[in-house]
Amino acid sequence: MRKEDHIIQVNQTYWNANADSWFGATALPMYGVKFATEDELHLFGDVSGKKMLDICCGSSHSLKYHADRNAGELWGVDLSQKQIENARAYLERNGYRANLICGAMESELNIPKNYFDYVYSIYGIGWTTDLEGTFQKIASYLKKDGIFIFSWHHTLNYCVSSVPSEQKEQKVQNQLIFQKSYFDESYFSHPLDGSEIVLCNRKISTYVNALAKAGFCIEQMIEQTDRETIGSSADNDPKIRKAQMLPLSLCFKARKLS
Ligand SMILES: C[S@@+](CC[C@H](N)C(=O)[O-])C[C@H]1O[C@@H](n2cnc3c(N)ncnc32)[C@H](O)[C@@H]1O
Repeated sequence: MRKEDHIIQVNQTYWNANADSWFGATALPMYGVKFATEDELHLFGDVSGKKMLDICCGSSHSLKYHADRNAGELWGVDLSQKQIENARAYLERNGYRANLICGAMESELNIPKNYFDYVYSIYGIGWTTDLEGTFQKIASYLKKDGIFIFSWHHTLNYCVSSVPSEQKEQKVQNQLIFQKSYFDESYFSHPLDGSEIVLCNRKISTYVNALAKAGFCIEQMIEQTDRETIGSSADNDPKIRKAQMLPLSLCFKARKLS
């Protein structure tokens, strides 16, 4: 088996076992933890009548967000059968229908080409084992001038950690530690919820160059901790302290050029 297929299999096992505990957890209007939301950023604008494709749609809460705003057509792709089941049930309960496809974003899927106004992914793209190939597929699904929006962990979030709270000295407490090389894009296995996931941490330039290679022009890149966290005085919370010093997530808005 190819290394990439093994990674996809491990991640699929995790998501099938843990879909319920992530129900609606990472979905629009949120782009990420302690991060500016769609309500502030307005990256999508008016989606009424638009054709939307959600890559790694999870439980479909982001699709419902667009359906509530009168999107014209809803499509979603996800690797996990359990997520697709949850998505279908959630949309049906809310009176919406979508074309939901169970499959890996890296593979050839039965999705129309040159068709969508928006393709987007909220905390999904980083799971791909083939960033360039995935961006090329996404470009092929979009119409000319179609918009691709995605959010993911900020690269620095993995590289930097807070000083452990047992180090009480004020001077040390306000520091962050660089614990992993920014240049290291190798895959790592991470134990989670009694199971495991396999991911890698890509440089910002890797995203930028893969977007350019797939024929996208970047309209916006957002690195913005939310206002509440920035203004918070709870600086004894390591996560808040970290989010006050660097973005925990990042978000790109790109347009397909031709
Ligand atoms: C954090 S969740 C995304 C939640 C979703 N965006 C939402 O709005 O609710 C990540 C999703 O990525 C899916 N996933 C992981 N690897 C994938 C792959 N290679 N292809 C497609 N989906 C994948 C998982 O099954 C999971 O549902």
